[in-house]
Amino acid sequence: MKKLLIAYNSRTGTTEKMANYLAEGVRISGNEVQVEKIATLKKAEQVSGFDGYIFGCPTYHKDMTGGMKQFLFVAEKANLVGKIGGAFGSHTHSGEAAPMVFETMQHVFKMDVVDLGPLNLTEALMETDEGMRACHQYAKGLCEKMG
Ligand SMILES: Cc1cc2nc3c(=O)[nH]c(=O)nc-3n(C[C@H](O)[C@H](O)[C@H](O)COP(=O)(O)O)c2cc1C
Repeated sequence: MKKLLIAYNSRTGTTEKMANYLAEGVRISGNEVQVEKIATLKKAEQVSGFDGYIFGCPTYHKDMTGGMKQFLFVAEKANLVGKIGGAFGSHTHSGEAAPMVFETMQHVFKMDVVDLGPLNLTEALMETDEGMRACHQYAKGLCEKMG
Protein backbone atom coordinates (compact mmCIF):
# COMPACT_ATOMS: atom_id res chain seq x y z
CA MET A 1 0.00 0.00 0.00
CA LYS A 2 1.33 3.42 -1.00
CA LYS A 3 0.71 6.69 0.81
CA LEU A 4 -0.28 9.84 -1.00
CA LEU A 5 -0.58 13.49 0.04
CA ILE A 6 -3.36 15.65 -1.37
CA ALA A 7 -2.62 19.31 -0.56
CA TYR A 8 -5.02 21.99 -1.77
CA ASN A 9 -6.61 25.34 -1.19
CA SER A 10 -10.12 26.44 -2.02
CA ARG A 11 -12.00 29.69 -1.44
CA THR A 12 -15.57 28.58 -2.06
CA GLY A 13 -15.31 24.80 -1.71
CA THR A 14 -15.23 23.41 -5.25
CA THR A 15 -11.52 22.51 -5.32
CA GLU A 16 -12.06 21.08 -1.84
CA LYS A 17 -14.83 18.88 -3.25
CA MET A 18 -12.37 17.69 -5.92
CA ALA A 19 -9.79 16.93 -3.20
CA ASN A 20 -12.30 14.78 -1.32
CA TYR A 21 -13.37 12.85 -4.46
CA LEU A 22 -9.70 12.32 -5.37
CA ALA A 23 -9.09 10.96 -1.86
CA GLU A 24 -12.04 8.60 -2.30
CA GLY A 25 -10.49 7.39 -5.56
CA VAL A 26 -7.14 6.78 -3.87
CA ARG A 27 -8.83 4.72 -1.12
CA ILE A 28 -10.91 2.77 -3.68
CA SER A 29 -7.58 1.88 -5.36
CA GLY A 30 -6.43 0.38 -2.03
CA ASN A 31 -3.99 3.11 -1.04
CA GLU A 32 -3.67 5.44 1.91
CA VAL A 33 -4.19 9.19 1.61
CA GLN A 34 -3.71 12.27 3.76
CA VAL A 35 -5.74 15.34 2.73
CA GLU A 36 -4.44 18.72 3.93
CA LYS A 37 -5.21 22.38 3.33
CA ILE A 38 -1.95 24.01 2.24
CA ALA A 39 -2.24 26.61 5.02
CA THR A 40 -1.46 23.82 7.53
CA LEU A 41 1.72 22.76 5.68
CA LYS A 42 4.38 25.23 6.77
CA LYS A 43 7.43 22.97 6.95
CA ALA A 44 9.13 20.77 4.35
CA GLU A 45 9.11 17.84 6.82
CA GLN A 46 5.29 17.86 6.70
CA VAL A 47 5.44 17.40 2.93
CA SER A 48 8.26 14.86 2.52
CA GLY A 49 7.96 11.09 2.96
CA PHE A 50 4.94 10.30 0.76
CA ASP A 51 5.00 8.05 -2.32
CA GLY A 52 2.88 10.40 -4.40
CA TYR A 53 1.47 13.94 -4.39
CA ILE A 54 -1.56 15.72 -5.81
CA PHE A 55 -1.66 19.48 -5.39
CA GLY A 56 -4.87 21.45 -5.97
CA CYS A 57 -5.59 25.12 -6.60
CA PRO A 58 -8.53 27.06 -8.08
CA THR A 59 -7.98 29.80 -10.69
CA TYR A 60 -8.51 33.40 -9.60
CA HIS A 61 -7.59 36.30 -11.91
CA LYS A 62 -6.00 33.88 -14.40
CA ASP A 63 -3.49 32.80 -11.78
CA MET A 64 -2.86 30.34 -8.98
CA THR A 65 -3.54 31.72 -5.48
CA GLY A 66 -0.93 33.48 -3.35
CA GLY A 67 -1.27 30.67 -0.82
CA MET A 68 -0.34 28.07 -3.42
CA LYS A 69 2.69 30.12 -4.50
CA GLN A 70 3.91 30.15 -0.89
CA PHE A 71 3.20 26.44 -0.46
CA LEU A 72 5.24 25.59 -3.57
CA PHE A 73 8.29 27.20 -1.92
CA VAL A 74 7.74 24.88 1.07
CA ALA A 75 7.27 21.85 -1.22
CA GLU A 76 10.45 22.76 -3.12
CA LYS A 77 12.43 22.24 0.09
CA ALA A 78 10.90 18.75 0.52
CA ASN A 79 12.93 17.44 -2.48
CA LEU A 80 10.23 15.65 -4.48
CA VAL A 81 12.53 14.62 -7.36
CA GLY A 82 11.22 11.46 -9.06
CA LYS A 83 8.05 11.26 -6.93
CA ILE A 84 4.73 10.62 -8.67
CA GLY A 85 2.74 13.82 -9.06
CA GLY A 86 -0.53 15.28 -10.30
CA ALA A 87 -2.39 18.57 -9.99
CA PHE A 88 -6.02 19.66 -10.00
CA GLY A 89 -8.23 22.70 -9.72
CA SER A 90 -11.65 24.16 -10.34
CA HIS A 91 -12.36 27.13 -12.59
CA THR A 92 -15.16 28.68 -14.64
CA HIS A 93 -13.62 29.62 -18.00
CA SER A 94 -9.85 29.92 -18.33
CA GLY A 95 -8.35 27.56 -15.74
CA GLU A 96 -4.70 28.60 -15.53
CA ALA A 97 -3.93 27.40 -11.98
CA ALA A 98 -3.89 23.59 -12.28
CA PRO A 99 -1.62 23.56 -15.38
CA MET A 100 0.74 26.07 -13.70
CA VAL A 101 1.03 23.92 -10.57
CA PHE A 102 1.48 20.80 -12.74
CA GLU A 103 4.28 22.46 -14.73
CA THR A 104 6.09 23.47 -11.55
CA MET A 105 5.89 19.89 -10.29
CA GLN A 106 7.24 18.60 -13.61
CA HIS A 107 9.90 21.12 -14.55
CA VAL A 108 11.01 22.66 -11.25
CA PHE A 109 10.57 19.81 -8.78
CA LYS A 110 11.46 17.17 -11.48
CA MET A 111 8.62 14.93 -10.36
CA ASP A 112 7.36 11.94 -12.35
CA VAL A 113 4.03 13.54 -13.32
CA VAL A 114 1.02 11.61 -14.63
CA ASP A 115 0.52 11.36 -18.41
CA LEU A 116 -3.08 12.47 -17.80
CA GLY A 117 -1.83 16.03 -17.25
CA PRO A 118 -3.58 18.30 -14.76
CA LEU A 119 -7.20 17.61 -13.76
CA ASN A 120 -8.69 20.96 -14.66
CA LEU A 121 -12.48 20.89 -14.19
CA THR A 122 -15.15 23.54 -14.41
CA GLU A 123 -17.27 24.42 -11.44
CA ALA A 124 -20.36 23.41 -13.49
CA LEU A 125 -18.96 19.92 -14.12
CA MET A 126 -18.23 19.53 -10.43
CA GLU A 127 -21.94 19.92 -9.75
CA THR A 128 -22.59 16.70 -11.68
CA ASP A 129 -21.70 13.03 -11.16
CA GLU A 130 -19.38 13.34 -14.15
CA GLY A 131 -17.13 15.57 -12.02
CA MET A 132 -16.99 12.99 -9.25
CA ARG A 133 -16.20 10.24 -11.77
CA ALA A 134 -13.43 12.33 -13.38
CA CYS A 135 -11.80 12.76 -9.94
CA HIS A 136 -12.08 9.03 -9.19
CA GLN A 137 -10.55 8.18 -12.60
CA TYR A 138 -7.67 10.61 -12.14
CA ALA A 139 -6.85 9.17 -8.72
CA LYS A 140 -7.01 5.65 -10.16
CA GLY A 141 -4.61 6.59 -12.98
CA LEU A 142 -2.17 8.14 -10.54
CA CYS A 143 -2.31 5.11 -8.23
CA GLU A 144 -1.65 2.77 -11.17
CA LYS A 145 1.48 4.79 -11.94
CA MET A 146 2.59 4.51 -8.30
CA GLY A 147 2.26 0.72 -8.65
C1 LIG B 1 -12.90 37.28 -8.37
C2 LIG B 1 -12.87 35.98 -9.13
C3 LIG B 1 -11.97 35.80 -10.15
C4 LIG B 1 -11.96 34.61 -10.91
N1 LIG B 1 -11.08 34.47 -11.94
C5 LIG B 1 -11.15 33.37 -12.72
C6 LIG B 1 -10.29 33.25 -13.85
O1 LIG B 1 -9.45 34.10 -14.15
N2 LIG B 1 -10.40 32.12 -14.60
C7 LIG B 1 -11.30 31.12 -14.32
O2 LIG B 1 -11.35 30.14 -15.05
N3 LIG B 1 -12.12 31.22 -13.25
C8 LIG B 1 -12.06 32.30 -12.43
N4 LIG B 1 -12.88 32.41 -11.34
C9 LIG B 1 -13.80 31.31 -11.03
C10 LIG B 1 -13.24 30.34 -9.97
O3 LIG B 1 -12.07 29.72 -10.45
C11 LIG B 1 -14.28 29.25 -9.69
O4 LIG B 1 -15.38 29.85 -9.02
C12 LIG B 1 -13.72 28.09 -8.90
O5 LIG B 1 -14.62 27.02 -8.92
C13 LIG B 1 -13.43 28.47 -7.46
O6 LIG B 1 -12.87 27.37 -6.81
P1 LIG B 1 -12.93 27.21 -5.23
O7 LIG B 1 -14.39 26.99 -4.87
O8 LIG B 1 -12.13 25.99 -4.95
O9 LIG B 1 -12.39 28.44 -4.60
C14 LIG B 1 -12.88 33.58 -10.58
C15 LIG B 1 -13.78 33.77 -9.51
C16 LIG B 1 -13.78 34.95 -8.79
C17 LIG B 1 -14.78 35.12 -7.66
